[in-house]
Amino acid sequence: MQPHQRIIVALDVQDAASALELAKQLHGMVGLLKVGLQLFTHSGPDVVRQLADHGEKLFLDLKLHDIPTTVMRAVASAESLGVAMMTIHLCGGADMLASARLAAGDQTQANFDCGIPLLLGVTVLTSMSQEALHSVGVPLPIEEQVLKLAELGFDQGIRGFVASPHEIAPLRCRFGDKIKIVTPGVRPEWSVKNDQHRVMTPREAIDAGADYIVVGRPVTAAPDPHEAVRKIIQELTV
Ligand code: C5P
Repeated sequence: MQPHQRIIVALDVQDAASALELAKQLHGMVGLLKVGLQLFTHSGPDVVRQLADHGEKLFLDLKLHDIPTTVMRAVASAESLGVAMMTIHLCGGADMLASARLAAGDQTQANFDCGIPLLLGVTVLTSMSQEALHSVGVPLPIEEQVLKLAELGFDQGIRGFVASPHEIAPLRCRFGDKIKIVTPGVRPEWSVKNDQHRVMTPREAIDAGADYIVVGRPVTAAPDPHEAVRKIIQELTV
C-alpha cells in the first residue's frame, strides 16, 4: 500500500457543503474519507451518496450497537450506499456481530474493490478511563477488555478493529496480520492535540503496526487542508 492510501481524513464538519468542499480539495490525496455521527445526523445518507458520486472511498463511522436484526439491516443499508468501511461496537455481543458479518459478507475477502465492506469493531472508546469502565460494571483492566472484545469479534468473523495508538501492539501481537487496524488519536508534530491525550504521530502509528490512521482536526482545522495532508504524506514517505 502507498503511504497516502493509509490516511483516512475524518470529515467532522457541520454540513454537506463543507464536506464536499473538503473532499474536492483532498481528492486523490488520501485513502478514504470518514463520515461520522456529526455529519451523518445533519446531512444523512445523501452526503454519503454525493461523496461516493465524487469518486471517494468512504468510511461510515456510526458505531452501530443495537439488537442483531436492526444492526443487520443497518449494515445492509450502509452497504447499499457503497461504503468501504463501517464501525460496529464489539460490546453488542456475539449474535449482533454474527448478524453484522452476515449482512456485510465474508470479511476475509473484504477489499475496497469487491463490494464487501470491511467491518471495524470498536473495543473500548478512548474517552473511557479505567474508572469509567468500572462504573459501567466492567471489572477488567482496559487492555484486557480490549483483547477480550477483539477475541469475541474475531470468533464471529470480524477482521478489522479501531484501536487507539497504545492498543496497536497488543492487538498485532495477538492476531498478527489476520486483522486490519485503524488508528485515530494521531497528531503530526506540528499540530495541536485538542482533546486527544495518548497520541502518536502518523509515522509512529504506522511503525507501531497500524494499517490506517484517522486524522481529523489537524487537517479540517488547518488553514490549508491540502498542505496539511501533503505534510503528513511526506512524514510517512521519508
Ligand atoms: O480530530 P481528530 O483527529 O481527533 O478526529 C478523530 C476522529 O476519530 C473523530 O472522528 C473521532 O470520532 C474518531 N475516533 C476517535 N477515537 C476513537 C474512535 C473514533 O477519535 N476511539
